[in-house]
Amino acid sequence: MKILVLNGPNLNMLGQREPAIYGTLSLDDLNRKLAQYAEGLNADRGEKDKAELFFYQTNHEGVLIDMIQKASETYAGIIYNPAAHTHYSIALRDAVAGVPIPVVEVHYSDIAQREGFRHLSVFKEVCISQFKGKGVVSYEEALAFLIEYIEKH
Ligand code: DQA
Repeated sequence: MKILVLNGPNLNMLGQREPAIYGTLSLDDLNRKLAQYAEGLNADRGEKDKAELFFYQTNHEGVLIDMIQKASETYAGIIYNPAAHTHYSIALRDAVAGVPIPVVEVHYSDIAQREGFRHLSVFKEVCISQFKGKGVVSYEEALAFLIEYIEKH
């Protein structure tokens, strides 16, 4: 199964932006770690369909909308960190609501413990689950959850 790992605005700056909040790993480091984790999951899952990860980051809302709209042609599911769009982009929320594949919302930081404007996620209701506050581990948990969900549905 092909899985798209989608990261929104400013996540290309991981490792440099606000390290006290987002740590020192770069986005490439994060993607490498997640790919390694996927290999481990695949090994544990034996003969079952292997998860193959595809990574994409952009700072542009319209590009994200286009990618989400077309994702079901190629991917079985999406792990998505909408970054700042989380809190206000109804256009992206509607794109997620309109696709027939499962989308898991993920955040590096714990948006519920930060400024008030980060507490609202417009994606929460249209995603199958939300993982937050654990850095790379949030993405790992999201991946394990998504694979299980895809297998059951
Ligand atoms: C974030 C949290 C958002 O509030 C913020 O705008 C981001 C990253 C996270 O991964 O913790 O850019 O989605």
